[in-house]
Amino acid sequence: RTILHGELRGEDVIVVSNREPYIHQRRGERIEVHRPASGLVTALEPIMRACSGTWVAHGSGSADAEVVDKNDRVAVPPENPAYHIRRVWLTPEEEAGYYYGFSNEGLWPLCHIAHVRPIFRSSDWTQYVAVNRKFAKAVVSEAKTKNPIVLVQDYHFALLPKMIHDELPDATIISFWHIPWPNPESFAICPWREEILAGMLGSSIMGFHTQSHCNNFVDTVDRFLEARVDRESFNVSFGGKLTAVRRYPISIAWPPDPELLQKTVPDCRSHIRQLNDLPPEHKLGIGVDRLDYTKGILERFRAIERLLELNPNWIGHFTFVQIAAPTRTGIDEYQHHEAQVRALAARINARFRSRGPAPILLKIEQHAPPQVYEYFRAADLCFVSSLHDGMNLVAKEFVAARDDERGVLVLSEFTGAARELPEALTVNPYDADQCAAALHLALSMPEAEQRDRMRLMRGLVAEFNVFRWAGRMLLDAATKRRRSRVTDQPG
Ligand code: G6P
Repeated sequence: RTILHGELRGEDVIVVSNREPYIHQRRGERIEVHRPASGLVTALEPIMRACSGTWVAHGSGSADAEVVDKNDRVAVPPENPAYHIRRVWLTPEEEAGYYYGFSNEGLWPLCHIAHVRPIFRSSDWTQYVAVNRKFAKAVVSEAKTKNPIVLVQDYHFALLPKMIHDELPDATIISFWHIPWPNPESFAICPWREEILAGMLGSSIMGFHTQSHCNNFVDTVDRFLEARVDRESFNVSFGGKLTAVRRYPISIAWPPDPELLQKTVPDCRSHIRQLNDLPPEHKLGIGVDRLDYTKGILERFRAIERLLELNPNWIGHFTFVQIAAPTRTGIDEYQHHEAQVRALAARINARFRSRGPAPILLKIEQHAPPQVYEYFRAADLCFVSSLHDGMNLVAKEFVAARDDERGVLVLSEFTGAARELPEALTVNPYDADQCAAALHLALSMPEAEQRDRMRLMRGLVAEFNVFRWAGRMLLDAATKRRRSRVTDQPG
């Protein structure tokens, strides 16, 4: 963090993300300020504070004159203002086309390959272009210098880097794609593939979580654009602009927020079992996800069913708590998925319930971070079965919560996290028998082996924490800027 402060002194830094770091909501006479739980805010807020930067985001609370000034700006954090949020307001049509439509019915399934067909409507694309343009205008108007550092977050803004570069050619634009990047064959079905790639290549640095996402991206560019791709340096040259394609695996804060521990009961093991009417020695598994079809919740439940079929001694002695936060509920596919998840849990519970507590406790609701932390600390295992996931921070949060060095992580091989945590029991979530065997192994694992595995995973997460993630990107940007000052080339 100290290095970062040195590098950033006096720099003009702008972050762009769809979600905002603080939400101001009017409740009668009062304005309430809410800070959503977000790994991104944890990572980027120290940077914003260090350089009094600007965070451009979609305004999701009240557009009150008491909250934002006439330029839609508000100083945050409320108790000790150190940087600004610049809110971009969207009409319902813009939000429907840009967020629900093109971002979440188009790009989300396109990049995740969870076998849900992407939907591409030209009306959504029109809104996506218009909203990216709206954000580009906001960024340009917020720039205090002609060469700001702009950090563009995620698939909502594929077109933004080029739009900003066209207006501010000396800006250093670091974009990070938080979800996977598919192979060229899969990406090919997108009707606007060239525009998306060209938009992203307005970036000085284009970041992904894993090397295989970088490889896929470079292959896709090579296939569809007249670009010069250097496979050794992973630099791409397109339209006179050089983009470095780089891997920056995201992580979580380390050490974990001390408030989490303060708000947690000391004996989570007994507390959580009592809370759920489970006997003291009952084995407990935990899953925590947004209720999203990419998370493999159906596959997870089928694996639990298979575990109980193959090892009936666990029936009545093992319960899996699935915390599922409702998400993007306006989209048909998400409603359909929720119905399937509920039906499958009910069917499995009906099948095994007569012999003790239900094997699956499905909790479809938001849980505050301290509650989730208690479940992590109470569990014998955590099961992450994503069909495809950029990183998956639940895996790392589980590890961070286990300072007792107990508990086993069962982790899908299709997550970015699996590349960093080989001491987890890695599984293919589509293979129910393999997952059931891993669950059985986890439930039977000797304490010493749990400790050895957990210690190695905790070491990794402690070292490669989220401050490093942001720090590495900014250090690379600083190097580029120093070079461009010498060579007189844009960053
Ligand atoms: C993923 C995306 C994020 C997104 C988050 C929650 O992690 O990469 O950009 O913010 O899901 O989804 P939501 O649609 O609720 O913002």
